[in-house]
Amino acid sequence: MKNLQTVILAGGKGSRMKSNLPKVLHTILDKTLLDYTISNAKNINSENIIVVVGHEKELVENSISTNVTFAYQKEQLGTGHALMISSEYIDDDSNVLIICGDTPLLEDSTLLDFVESHNNSNNALTLISIKLDNPTGYGRVIRNGNNVLKIVEHKDAEHDELLINEVNTGVYCFNGKVLKDALKEINNNNAQGEYYLPDTLEVILKKGLNVGVVLHSNNEEFLGINTKVQLSSATSVMQSRINNDLMLKGAIIESPISTFISKDVTIGIDTIIKPNTIIYGTTSIGNDCVIGPNSTINNMEIKNNVHITNSVCNDSFINNNCNVGPFAYIRPKCTIGENVKIGDFVEIKNSTIGNNTKASHLSYIGDAKLGSNINIGCGTITVNYDGVNKHVTTIEDNVFVGCNSNLIAPVTIEKNSFVGAGTTVTKTVTSNSLAIGRSRQKNISNWIR
Ligand code: UD1
Ligand code: CA
Repeated sequence: MKNLQTVILAGGKGSRMKSNLPKVLHTILDKTLLDYTISNAKNINSENIIVVVGHEKELVENSISTNVTFAYQKEQLGTGHALMISSEYIDDDSNVLIICGDTPLLEDSTLLDFVESHNNSNNALTLISIKLDNPTGYGRVIRNGNNVLKIVEHKDAEHDELLINEVNTGVYCFNGKVLKDALKEINNNNAQGEYYLPDTLEVILKKGLNVGVVLHSNNEEFLGINTKVQLSSATSVMQSRINNDLMLKGAIIESPISTFISKDVTIGIDTIIKPNTIIYGTTSIGNDCVIGPNSTINNMEIKNNVHITNSVCNDSFINNNCNVGPFAYIRPKCTIGENVKIGDFVEIKNSTIGNNTKASHLSYIGDAKLGSNINIGCGTITVNYDGVNKHVTTIEDNVFVGCNSNLIAPVTIEKNSFVGAGTTVTKTVTSNSLAIGRSRQKNISNWIR
């Protein structure tokens, strides 16, 4: 197999999107359109990935975390022009796969098979076509019998050419040298005044070289996003692909249509995902959990038999047999042990919680280290912020914190101690003791008018 280079076209504005954001930065689930094509290029082992940028260059470049080569197209003079300015990065003796940054539904296996078949053929150019009921807007594949002659863009097509329903998908594989030579011979004498990449086809045929057009049957994969309507259709396709895959691997998704799970999420067997739930990022969920309804889970590691309901959880770890919610908020950097309860209206942030500890209602726990077997009474607050710095609250094993207590950090509550309800703790509570700090109640008799 020859060296594979992949060029991703992402220089255009995408005027039909009617957006201030460059087209390729619109998202499907938690990834940009461009992310999907870049992971295609990565997954099929491209030796290098060349991304053509132009419109809002910095924004597009900064959105990419993979190591790629950027080719800067100052003016968008057409898809052929986009390749001309990429030529300096293209090696003569390589397979050059070209895909558009606005086709997020392409499958790795389709591209891999395509590149392999090009490599094993004696074609100088191979491209993928599809047949559409409504080919409006696409470049038409013009044939004479079985032989391909050229591609005509919609805006340049004659009446009888417009009736042709076999169209160019915009997925090509070229021999590097042939591509670079052919680009020198195309012009912009056409309806849009652009250099069309598909015009290289005719040039290559004229040189007596072979061109192959592979008709593909799965049209859906090649859907190019040009409008926000197409963006929502592609989101639905991606959503059901991912949900179906997870269900076939053993997860139970009660309402796939109201459940949005992104590509890298893993879910164990017999875990139930309830309606209106969003699970994004690098989240992994174990077996026998119940997640949702109405929950948002981001970059979480969740072990087995964890129940999360009506809650938001981000960038944290939850061990086995925990209960979270309803209406809990787990913010980044929390590590939660086994058998823990994080109940209603409890917010925790940057905290470690030991096994069997319970915060059942209405608490804020931030920058805290909690041991095991602790009871956090309703309304307990770690006062972690003095207006300038954040401070740590440490609570050791077997502590009972009474309701409505303020724990003014930095502070430590040592093991086996009690904090009386309504106490404001400002200094260390020593082990085995009771801390109580509130004014004594007095009753004023006969006070009522
Ligand atoms: C293109 C093809 C058409 C094909 C269709 C499939 C051409 C001339 N036409 O049309 O035959 O049926 O794709 O979807 O190629 N881009 C640049 N620089 C430019 C112009 C475009 O980077 O100067 C990028 C765009 O950002 C986009 C991609 O190339 O990601 C395709 O451009 P677009 O304008 O959408 O081409 P189509 O009109 O859809
Ligand atoms: Ca397009």
